[in-house]
Amino acid sequence: MNPIIEVQNLSFKYSETGAMILDSVDMTIQKSSITAIAGLSGCGKSTLVFCLCGAIPKSLPGIMHGNILLEGNNIKDLSLPSLAKKVGIVFQDVDNQLFLPTVEAEIAFAPENLCLSYDEIKVTIERVLANLNIEHLRYKNPSQLSGGEKHLAAIASVLSLDPEIIILDEVLSELDRENKDLIIDTIKLLQQSGKTIIIIDHSIKHLMVADTILLMRKGKIEDRIEVDEDHELLYNRLSDFFLCQGV
Ligand SMILES: Nc1ncnc2c1ncn2[C@@H]1O[C@H](COP(=O)(O)OP(=O)(O)OP(=O)(O)O)[C@@H](O)[C@H]1O
Ligand SMILES: [Mg+2]
Repeated sequence: MNPIIEVQNLSFKYSETGAMILDSVDMTIQKSSITAIAGLSGCGKSTLVFCLCGAIPKSLPGIMHGNILLEGNNIKDLSLPSLAKKVGIVFQDVDNQLFLPTVEAEIAFAPENLCLSYDEIKVTIERVLANLNIEHLRYKNPSQLSGGEKHLAAIASVLSLDPEIIILDEVLSELDRENKDLIIDTIKLLQQSGKTIIIIDHSIKHLMVADTILLMRKGKIEDRIEVDEDHELLYNRLSDFFLCQGV
């Protein structure tokens, strides 16, 4: 087995006096896998992926214990630019992620910051727009897009750096059926090309796209399910998990 991410005894709270949000989380994520994280609202899913992409503690401060290793390297020792090339994330609150006047500018933003050449950036923009089939959104202003289109634009901006690990925090729930299918197909293609994907979702149907499902409760990983078992049994097991928590 070849873990690309290892989380060791990770605990986090947003402030000295606040409640513990992540409580001794241990987990591994295999390279080129699709991992889904599920759990009740407020259990810490977004906080966990903020830690995996380095937003916590680099941009969002708090009190953190434990280690996160990316390909064996402690995330604490990686600079933000090298982290951005390794881990791309579409945040749940996508409006905060999009701030430029066109989708094209969003896609170009990270490569420009890494000083790629004009020609490389042009090729990147065209590759990403074609991969997501969103050429028609190229010159649109993200603030005027629908919720689903905004998520597609954010995914496009994340794919611009071709990161090894791609995290999608509740992206599918905002999309209409056609775009949902497009993103699920894109996730599978990205996996086939060797990428590691992490999705957060509440829908059992979407969770089953994953190879592994991590069930979270109150800041802990409560269960790890490999999606190779009978799908009907798995569906019932996931329904029980959500029902037990009053979803
Ligand atoms: N910036 C912050 N400062 C303080 N507390 C926060 C902050 N962000 C989140 N929290 C708290 O941390 C807890 C976990 O929130 P988080 O967003 O990680 O949960 P979640 O599982 O992603 O929930 P949801 O399914 O609703 O997205 C919640 O109690 C939330 O209020
Ligand atoms: Mg969340």
